[in-house]
Amino acid sequence: MKERLEKIKEEALKQIESSEALDKLNDIRVAYLGKKGELTSVLKGMKDVAPEDRPKVGQMVNEAREIIEAKLEETRQALARKAREAQMKAEIIDVTLPARKANVGHSHPNTVALEELERIFVGMGYEVVEGPEIEYDEYNFTKLNIPEGHPAKDEQDTFYINKDIVLRTQTSPVQARTMEKGKLPIRMISPGRVFRSDEVDATHSPSFHQVEGLVIDKNITFADLKGTLAEFAKELFGEDTKVKFRPHHFPFTEPSAEMDVSCFKCGGKGCRFCKGTGWIEILGCGMVHPHVFEMCGIDPEVYTGFAFGVGLERIALLKYEIDDMRLLYENDVRFLKQF
Ligand code: DAH
Repeated sequence: MKERLEKIKEEALKQIESSEALDKLNDIRVAYLGKKGELTSVLKGMKDVAPEDRPKVGQMVNEAREIIEAKLEETRQALARKAREAQMKAEIIDVTLPARKANVGHSHPNTVALEELERIFVGMGYEVVEGPEIEYDEYNFTKLNIPEGHPAKDEQDTFYINKDIVLRTQTSPVQARTMEKGKLPIRMISPGRVFRSDEVDATHSPSFHQVEGLVIDKNITFADLKGTLAEFAKELFGEDTKVKFRPHHFPFTEPSAEMDVSCFKCGGKGCRFCKGTGWIEILGCGMVHPHVFEMCGIDPEVYTGFAFGVGLERIALLKYEIDDMRLLYENDVRFLKQF
């Protein structure tokens, strides 16, 4: 009996020592100390032991159990420690590695240009107002002195929702909407998206952005228009920027002009950027036409005003010297990152 116990004990200890995983230890516990385990079966065989030897055998069994349990516990702790160390090693954090940068993105060149324009005009006391992108034909054309059959309507061919409703071709209808509200004087800019049925190329897109401007008060003259837009050009392109007004025609202003700025690349000497002319065209403008005043409920004998319209993309392309408008819409981050 004694020998059998010794054998069981040695066998158990050997197995415990060579086990490398915690669940393996548990199997061993069950195999030796469990209900159907080896040691338990020795106790069960007690009835075959002479009564006087039973206490002795019982004590031996208990001793063996204690030794095996102690070894199990010791090994369990060692294995657990080893597992924890391995885990710590695997999950080690190198605090000297540079932190991953927070990816916050940044403003689109169009947005940067718009914010710059808004800053300049808000600084001069203008309000920023918005109008609908889906507009009545009446506001987009008729109230701007572009009646049915007017050639300007062909030039700005657009997308019709139905006979009376269009995707606006210009931000100018916001002029009519603002005048009709009847709150005078007016000093506003109105940025927004416009639409034309143009083919996409380096300088055209069926959808682009404009910023409209409108000033109405008593005694507003062309001198106010010139002074305001000259100041705007200086703020946008630099203190040395000169402006030039070329007569032009827009149905809703009279007289009308296009404004050029001296080339900020060559200072006006002529270069590739300004195609050798020294000047760059940037906007259309003029004195609000009396017909427009009348159609929008303002007395042209009392009030005068000026208006202007700037292409936002054109400003962004110029400012950042981008030579293809399509780049602004492709949203290639490698391109956008540069600005
Ligand atoms: N709406 C014109 C266009 O899309 C631009 C324009 C020119 C706006 C003269 C104006 C202006 O307010 O006075 O071509």
